[in-house]
Amino acid sequence: MIILLLGAPGAGKGTQAKILTEKYDLAHLSTGDVFRYHIKNETEIGKVAKGYIEKGTLVPDEVTCAIVKESLPLYQNRKGIILDGFPRNIVQAKALDAFCKLDCVLNIAVSEDLLLERICGRRVCKDCGASHHIKYLQGKATCQYCNGVLYQRQDDSVETAKERFAVYSQQTKPLIQFYKEKGILHTVDGNKEQDAVLVEIDKILKVLAE
Ligand code: AP5
Ligand code: MG
Repeated sequence: MIILLLGAPGAGKGTQAKILTEKYDLAHLSTGDVFRYHIKNETEIGKVAKGYIEKGTLVPDEVTCAIVKESLPLYQNRKGIILDGFPRNIVQAKALDAFCKLDCVLNIAVSEDLLLERICGRRVCKDCGASHHIKYLQGKATCQYCNGVLYQRQDDSVETAKERFAVYSQQTKPLIQFYKEKGILHTVDGNKEQDAVLVEIDKILKVLAE
């Protein structure tokens, strides 16, 4: 099963993906994580991506699509794949259609005031990449899953987050209609607590698996 997690920056895509991958034995392909890996390791892709990510704009489609096309065959040893953050515009969605068929699009809908709070309070694990929030960390500086050190993403400032929201509205939101027309869109209420969002997703995946 190939699942796309769609949603604004901070909607909870990475958080839900981490749980779903373990629960359903799925692979997780996050283009944002791939770019951060390349930036950290100062690769050629990292050098291209850095400026775009720091500004909160999209990395060029040809770079992003090539990465996904090359990576997908490497993820076939699990029961399915979760795509997180790709596609995020119509050009990418059409490119994906040419080499992969999505079974389900889970649109995590969250109001904008909550998104900003989630982004600005997010702390990410340097080792396993898990997202945490200062509200629940109670002063702890290490990851609840692997004890790794937590850091704040460079693009998680108020200013860059606002640019990311604008890019989402202009370029990514049209994908909701695009996938609705294909009959594979499911929207969940991402304003709820993490566990309640998972319950909604579970219900959808259970029906699809029948
Ligand atoms: P990417 O890394 O994909 O960032 P994003 O889409 O902006 O999404 P985020 O990772 O910020 O949010 P999330 O939905 O994963 O939220 P999370 O679960 O962490 O992309 C970064 C950049 O890379 C882009 O700006 C672009 O430059 C580039 N890029 C990536 N893909 C690209 C593509 N396809 N094309 C071109 N460029 C691309 O949760 C957020 C916080 O909320 C956490 O603190 C978490 O603990 C908390 N939280 C989660 N769920 C809940 C809940 N239900 N209740 C309360 N708190 C919650
Ligand atoms: Mg994420």
